[in-house]
Amino acid sequence: MNKIVVSGGRRLSGEITVGGSKNAALPILFGGIVTGESCVFSNLPRVSDVLKALEILKFLGARIRFLQSGDVRVDYSGVRAGCAPCSLTSAIRGSTYLLGAMLAQFGRAELGGAGGCDFGARPIDQHLMGFERMGARVSCLENSVLIEAPNGLHGARIPLAMPSVGATANLMIAASLAEGETVIENAAAEPHVAALAAFLCDAGARITGVGTDSVRVIGVQKLYGVQNSIIPDMIEAGTYLCAGVACGGPVRVRAVCPAHLTPLLDTFSKMGVKVQTGEDSVTVTALERYRCIDVVTGPFPAFPTDLQPQIAALFCLGNRAMGEGSVTELVFRSRFRYIEELRRMGAIVSIQDRCAHIQPSVLQARKLRSPDLRGGAALLLAALATNGQSEITNAATVGRGYEHLEAKLRALGAHITVF
Ligand code: EPU
Repeated sequence: MNKIVVSGGRRLSGEITVGGSKNAALPILFGGIVTGESCVFSNLPRVSDVLKALEILKFLGARIRFLQSGDVRVDYSGVRAGCAPCSLTSAIRGSTYLLGAMLAQFGRAELGGAGGCDFGARPIDQHLMGFERMGARVSCLENSVLIEAPNGLHGARIPLAMPSVGATANLMIAASLAEGETVIENAAAEPHVAALAAFLCDAGARITGVGTDSVRVIGVQKLYGVQNSIIPDMIEAGTYLCAGVACGGPVRVRAVCPAHLTPLLDTFSKMGVKVQTGEDSVTVTALERYRCIDVVTGPFPAFPTDLQPQIAALFCLGNRAMGEGSVTELVFRSRFRYIEELRRMGAIVSIQDRCAHIQPSVLQARKLRSPDLRGGAALLLAALATNGQSEITNAATVGRGYEHLEAKLRALGAHITVF
């Protein structure tokens, strides 16, 4: 995916089926290393970050088979201790999960680099602090980090400085094979963290407290290969719901878990958007104008940072939004790079520290550059809702997290071509 061309200003309506969650798939795929056996995954999204993760696993010795059913079998029995090339691992953030998994399985993990969207510095000090508390030795080399625990890991109390998704998942993976009990305090409670815990428990791990801020893991000696169905992607679902709001709707997303979308749906309700929730579906309709409000991101169940750019884009749309709104970003220091591009469309946004104040204005179609995955999604929403032809370059950033983007948006009536 290089470029997205959109002829915007059309009403979008209809129904789409949401795929599996990228941010659940990544820790589960890498976490599977600790089983040392074969696992079969259904609903695995074919987004570029997940395909990159499979490439990394293959390099390390896993055998990957795409089954006719659409499932993917990963046989981890051939995985050996080693370091995947930086050219692969630095493409995705999820490669950090190799640390916990390789350390637990082989007593040694080395990572040359981890990528992901550029939100400024993305340290992994909390992951490393946790491994050290479990008895590992951490060496930060010039271009890599090496973690060793030749005598195995032991359980520990790990108070996280912030409820980090990555650190909670990584430490949960490592602790599942450690000796004794690990307690992760101030743990993240995101649905994808719970999904990883469910996968590990199915494989034989003993994990409790998931969804609370204190996760307990009692280490076991061995884990086993299992079947796993990746949970629905709440961010993909949320993005299409935002498209429905931006372009009138009604838009219905199917195969979702509505409870995971509660922070977004509550926000929509405050904006005056009509929301209907079914057992595994959500419908939004915004035929009338909607209100801008103040949104603050935070760890689950607060408003997700991964939907912050998309909701900001909705507040920019002068033909639909009323009043003034703001988004305050409390998870990442620097996640407003997309705003410069929205300003080029005519958006009126002023940023003060962590808060972007937005006054709706009439936007113009433009040539835009996607700065990152969700920032690119925000530009796409603005382009869909704005009359005229917009182009979004650097679109590979968007392909990292949205499967069949062109087909899904066309099904809603969008005039969109992906090159
Ligand atoms: N942090 C530290 N030290 C650490 C770990 C985190 O200072 O050791 C800080 C981060 O810099 C950030 C905050 O804590 O300011 C939260 O980071 P977290 O660890 O929760 O994020 P992550 O694991 O790096 C995952 C998702 C992100 C999502 C965040 C928050 C994956 C692969 N990535 O990142 O997804 O925004 O959790 O929910 O799961 C996306 O999908 O677009 C995306 C960026």
